[in-house]
Amino acid sequence: MKYFITTAIDYTNGDPHIGHAYEKILADVIARYHRTFEGPTFFLTGVDQHGQKVQQAAQKSGVQPFDFAQEVTRKFLALWDKLEIRKDGWAATTDPRHKKAVQKVLQSLYEKGELVKAKYSGYYSVRQEQFLTDKERNEAGVFGTEWGEVILLEEENWYFPLLKHKEWLKNFVEKHPDFVTPAFRRNELLNAIDRLSGDLCVSRPKERLFWGIEFPFDPNYVTFVWFDALLNYVSFAGYLSDSDPSLPDFTELWPCKAHIIGKDILVPAHGIYWPIMLHAMGFSDEQMPRLLVHGWWNISGAKMSKSLGNTVDPDILADRYGADALRYYLMRDNNVGHDSDYSEENLVKRNNSDLANDLGNLVNRTISMSRRYRGGRIDPVELNDDDLNSIRDLANSVTGRYRAAFERFEVHHAIEAAWELVTRANALVEQKAPWKLAKEPAATELLHAVLYTLAESVRLLALMVSPVIPTASEKILAQLRAADIRTLEWGGLPSGHELDEPFPIFPKFDL
Ligand code: MSP
Repeated sequence: MKYFITTAIDYTNGDPHIGHAYEKILADVIARYHRTFEGPTFFLTGVDQHGQKVQQAAQKSGVQPFDFAQEVTRKFLALWDKLEIRKDGWAATTDPRHKKAVQKVLQSLYEKGELVKAKYSGYYSVRQEQFLTDKERNEAGVFGTEWGEVILLEEENWYFPLLKHKEWLKNFVEKHPDFVTPAFRRNELLNAIDRLSGDLCVSRPKERLFWGIEFPFDPNYVTFVWFDALLNYVSFAGYLSDSDPSLPDFTELWPCKAHIIGKDILVPAHGIYWPIMLHAMGFSDEQMPRLLVHGWWNISGAKMSKSLGNTVDPDILADRYGADALRYYLMRDNNVGHDSDYSEENLVKRNNSDLANDLGNLVNRTISMSRRYRGGRIDPVELNDDDLNSIRDLANSVTGRYRAAFERFEVHHAIEAAWELVTRANALVEQKAPWKLAKEPAATELLHAVLYTLAESVRLLALMVSPVIPTASEKILAQLRAADIRTLEWGGLPSGHELDEPFPIFPKFDL
């Protein structure tokens, strides 16, 4: 069984922004952690290419929705490459393999009586092309001008009966605390389930929305975009693929260990529609995925949005500071599950202080001193020295806490734990002053032990930061000539090991 991890798929109605980048980096970091330290991993991410938003954006630009979605998809793909997102699968919802799976699911739900055709009549906004409910009325009790012309419309559509499964869902969420992380989001979901009062309309008549997957048994309709998009998590994992060799083996991957989504799409999409869809499709409670719900990146406390014109372009930031600095900042300055405020100033500060000063100096000093005083050779010398013993104990405690933090998806805590070792190892350099020991013949053993302790600390750190800053990590491991020593146990560097030339890894930036 592989560790299967996925993210929300991004709408292709506009350019990627820092919020999209954060989510993919978070998922990539967790995937890299598992690949390196736990075992085989499959990371799926992709793009949501259908629906009204894409159809409208394409119309505005005067191009076909397919071409529009392809162009935006290219931007996402190029950005993920630049940000070192190492994905194993790519879910693009116009892919014929996905379309086939969606239609098979619709057909089988229809045959099971889980889809019903019904007439609905209500207020409909022509401009927004959606039915309006009382929630959309303003304080004066009317539909505001933002909805344009509002007409009474009667329309026949296909409905997916959510209410029938409400009790099951409530029980399931109550009995499975790990369905939603963090815990406070689970309470929010339980409240939403209690309020659930209607079924889900899963079709759109083609005359008002043509950009979607056609109903296999009723070709005048296309599939509602969420119903289509949610199924990406199983279609691109090989579900109902008739062993298509271009897709993974579904039984190897499912159930998903982490669906990473933003807080805005827990209710109703991932917390209500998705588990009920799986349940109706015949998945057991044990086959339900686990949701990891992250917070938002805001700008000075305000929501980032295209209409406010305050979005931040991760592509420019990656060009300016490099992928590692951006990845580090987004992982270090966010408490997973909670919101964060984006600031370029903080990005630069984090880079300069944590990466260039703390970690960069430690690596550089360790390797330079080992070359200078021992020609690059290091040996594990057993000495009963309190400082050296305690740093070894600290390293063991740090690697333990680092792993535990990752198991809870708390990437920022994993980084904080690693930095305890960075700080301590830097302090050891000052404490033991190897440049003095090198001048005292009686201190040779101690010098060897200190240099080994530093090199081994640096090796463990390079491994621990590898999910977050993969490029810098590889460079550190290359200087240590330790690329293939992957253990998080103390003592991985063997006796007589030789280090390579030092060279600076982390650039500093001016504010
Ligand atoms: N297409 C749907 C998801 C379908 S999943 C079956 C969608 N797309 S989106 O492009 O609007 O958002 C994609 C992801 O980015 C979501 O998880 C969303 O929460 C996340 N973010 C969008 N803006 C964000 C921030 N400002 N900060 C952090 N993440 C945010 O929703």
